[in-house]
Amino acid sequence: GVSDVYAEPQAEGGETHQCAGGDVAIMTTAQGIPVADNQNSLKQGARGPTLLEDAHFREKMFHFDHERIPERVVHARGYGAHGYFELTESLSDVTRADVLQRVGEKVPAFVRFSTVAGSKGSADLARDVRGFAVKLYTQEGNWDLVGNNIPVFFIQDAIKFPDLIHAAKPEPDRDFPQAQTAHDNFWDFISLSPEAMHMVMWTMSDRAIPRSLRTMEGFGVHTFRLVDAEGKSTFVKFHWKPKQGLQSVAWNEAVKINGVDPDFHRRDLWDAINAGDFPEWELGVQLFDDAFADSFDFDVLDATKLIPEELVPVRIVGRLVLDRVVDNFFAETEQVAFCTQNVPPGIDFSNDPLLQGRNFSYLDTQLKRLGGPNFTHIPINAPKCPMAHFQQDGHMAMRNPKGRANYEPNSWGAEQGGPREDPAKGFVSVATVEDGPKQRVRSESFADHYSQARQFYISQMPIEQKHIGDAIVFELSKVERADIRSRTVSHLRNIDETLAATVADGLGLPLPEPAKAARATIMDLPPSDALS
Ligand code: HEM
Repeated sequence: GVSDVYAEPQAEGGETHQCAGGDVAIMTTAQGIPVADNQNSLKQGARGPTLLEDAHFREKMFHFDHERIPERVVHARGYGAHGYFELTESLSDVTRADVLQRVGEKVPAFVRFSTVAGSKGSADLARDVRGFAVKLYTQEGNWDLVGNNIPVFFIQDAIKFPDLIHAAKPEPDRDFPQAQTAHDNFWDFISLSPEAMHMVMWTMSDRAIPRSLRTMEGFGVHTFRLVDAEGKSTFVKFHWKPKQGLQSVAWNEAVKINGVDPDFHRRDLWDAINAGDFPEWELGVQLFDDAFADSFDFDVLDATKLIPEELVPVRIVGRLVLDRVVDNFFAETEQVAFCTQNVPPGIDFSNDPLLQGRNFSYLDTQLKRLGGPNFTHIPINAPKCPMAHFQQDGHMAMRNPKGRANYEPNSWGAEQGGPREDPAKGFVSVATVEDGPKQRVRSESFADHYSQARQFYISQMPIEQKHIGDAIVFELSKVERADIRSRTVSHLRNIDETLAATVADGLGLPLPEPAKAARATIMDLPPSDALS
């Protein structure tokens, strides 16, 4: 008998038997066939070969063999939780988005925090950017705000993203280091991409080693648009501000925590929520119009720049509360699929070339990661509002259209004809006027790579500045090639001379010449009118 194989007593809670009965459900196969013995495969004789006929064994093993799916190509290590978003100030003056109209109304939310470069099993306290991806299940469909904890990005154009990530991930021949920054490839790429220097200042600061996922800010990074019922649009930057305050650890603390508990951040979030200590963030918006955009020293379409809060104050309009852990990590946190493209009517994109590229990227990767085009049928990804369309079939289709018509236009009546478009309520893109020659150039307005990097550095307290210098010395000390170290320091000279001197000294390097405007390699193209 099955229970013969257990010594008694051994099971938790004083239970000694391992069989169903009473409140304990009967185990079945995935086909629902009750299982009599889950310990022994079917054999010919007690010591004989296992039989192909053993459907239970075959199904169990087949399913186990297929448990893994690809980890995310970036942001592989993440941790999610459920909660809600509540509007505290109406934005009806600037947007028709239903979720931003009525004060006090709540919609369900799911948030996934992540590191960017490490693999799924990497340590939580790595020096890295953190993802801050929010899915709001609104009455007009899912709104995904797929942000980070740093308000700017390394690059300005999505075409450089595969190179950035290749350079940051383990090197292809040796498959190390797991750490994003501490290697030749990363700093080689950075030192040849001066537009990265602003974000490098942030990632070398304590911002890149948060104390807790609960003590991080979040940023939409790109300029988006809010759009009212008349089609008038206002530019917007989105912010999440932690009620817990912004807190980081120091590098020597991070190193120890990683060693003792690589799950420190996920454990902290799990414990806090289960203890009823629900983390909360305020949603803030920076709103501005074309006149401000034109007057701004930088380009609002350039994701390596932020808009100083002194120039455009952050208006707090809502709160996000996380109050429930997942039932199952894989089903929810691992299978959740965010996409910058998912915005309800009343929210729209800007021409930020990084955002435009992201809009193409996420669906594509999720088709592969989640095994087919029907990943919106997975409960964590399914909208929680009425939904009707004629998309059908494909692997794992669980929600095919009902009735006779699966096309449109059709002349079947309301009963059989299915859903119809609604020009008034449906999503309408802002009717911007676009013009200009088709060409691969970067706007001159994207050219200043150092001013905001300097602004960030000098805004830091002396101890924070010291941490930045120490971090750069530590990271560059892992770089083998002296020319890469030196080229990086040549950019620091354009940011802050003291920082450059400190780092050069820390590395034992002679101080290099300041970097020339490296943009020449990208922008030494004929002016646009010469091309037309
Ligand atoms: C995840 C692409 C820039 C935030 C991902 C994934 C891809 C991707 C392919 C994996 C998605 C999945 O498997 O579900 C890109 C490209 C970028 C870019 C092509 C630039 C051209 C950014 C920026 C941010 C960001 C600027 C922040 C503002 C995130 C976050 C995730 C993510 C938070 C994780 C989402 C999750 O938790 O599931 N990105 N990304 N990405 N990206 Fe990006």
